[in-house]
Amino acid sequence: MEHATIKAKILRFDPDRDEKPYFQSYVIPVDEQITVYELLNIIHRDHDGSLAFRDFKCFKSMCTTCIVKLDGKTVRSCSTPVKPNSEIRIEPVSGGEIIRDLVVDFKNM
Ligand code: FES
Repeated sequence: MEHATIKAKILRFDPDRDEKPYFQSYVIPVDEQITVYELLNIIHRDHDGSLAFRDFKCFKSMCTTCIVKLDGKTVRSCSTPVKPNSEIRIEPVSGGEIIRDLVVDFKNM
């Protein structure tokens, strides 16, 4: 049986290595709806260990440490679902300096 997939374009940026941010595409097989946070973990664990995102988790939609932009809208990655066979864009939230990939410096936000 063929897996459903989620096609994700994720903004990557390592200030020590990259001149400017760029999008990297991933096609991830999934069996069911998962959260954005779970998707990032699957990518990091199984496809690209260099992807950086905040791994702190309260899972109660309270801490907002996990916020990212999903298709231009700020969401909590731990509680925002992504359906199989969807195409999405994930970026760091606006307003803070990008430390690496999806990790933003919250200091001035
Ligand atoms: S991990 Fe706390 S709101 Fe998402």
